[in-house]
Amino acid sequence: MVFNTSRLVGKTVLITGASSGIGAATAILFAKGGSNLILLARRADALKAVADAATEAHKASGVQGGGKIATVQLDVSDRAQVAGLWEKVPKDLRDVDVLVNNAGFVHGVERVGEINASDIESMFATNVFGLIAMTQLIVKDMKARNTGHIINIGSVAGREPYVGGSIYCATKHAVRAFTGSLMRELVDTQIRVSEIQPGMVETEFSVVRFRGDKSAADKVYEGITPLTGEDIAEEIVWVASRPPHVNLAEVFVLPTNQASPTLAHRGGKVNAK
Ligand SMILES: NC(=O)c1ccc[n+]([C@@H]2O[C@H](COP(=O)([O-])OP(=O)(O)OC[C@H]3O[C@@H](n4cnc5c(N)ncnc54)[C@H](OP(=O)(O)O)[C@@H]3O)[C@@H](O)[C@H]2O)c1
Repeated sequence: MVFNTSRLVGKTVLITGASSGIGAATAILFAKGGSNLILLARRADALKAVADAATEAHKASGVQGGGKIATVQLDVSDRAQVAGLWEKVPKDLRDVDVLVNNAGFVHGVERVGEINASDIESMFATNVFGLIAMTQLIVKDMKARNTGHIINIGSVAGREPYVGGSIYCATKHAVRAFTGSLMRELVDTQIRVSEIQPGMVETEFSVVRFRGDKSAADKVYEGITPLTGEDIAEEIVWVASRPPHVNLAEVFVLPTNQASPTLAHRGGKVNAK
């Protein structure tokens, strides 16, 4: 562990989209810090592999406390599945201390007028409505206990739109607006609300964007050292482990050679892409 996470020992952390990338790395880092985990995603096998890795990481850390892990196969865009979540979570893990709303994706680079209606709907259903549904479910209980931390994964795309990303950018702008309202609504409570806004992170994200075309995905990161899921996990765990009176409201984190969604220094050239 690169920093002190003693405040996280025994806390229960729920992570959506925990089967790969940022969510998986975050699960493993919280486990190392002695937290209990509820891990959600649609792919049960991938989720189980992350849970096993988190269990190993917890054991290897030697931290006393925490280490309980529940996995739930769940699609955050399905309201009925979200509403039925607690039936699938052991009773002793139902008081969530930290909610990491991470599940999200982008499909395609089509311009407005050419975008599939189903892609528009599914991006909003997951990135926006799913995040809101999870928050609605969990914030009620956090309010009743007057404690908790909601950490939403936004994006550089939620700060600055770009060509070919209209829907994804709109979803991440919506996440930023929702997060801002939530923080203001909860100002008279002990509940913290934060947003992490990553730039380029090499995960399955671009493979999903290009519908499985790995060579198209690899081109996104050509000539630049992108962030990793582990880099973002460090930011998330850092934000969650501050003292209770400290709320890191926004963390905007970019690769050193990226300055905006479209401004990057690649292999000796600025804006080579
Ligand atoms: N990578 C980047 O450059 C980047 C930059 C800024 C922000 N972000 C954001 O970071 C978050 C994580 O992305 P990532 O980079 O780690 O990509 P990733 O490796 O593709 O991971 C996305 C995760 O979301 C899950 N997911 C997708 N749709 C879901 C749904 N409907 N219900 C439940 N889980 C769902 C996926 O699991 P299943 O397929 O198993 O459901 C997977 O675990 C996303 O919100 C993304 O927008 C990424």
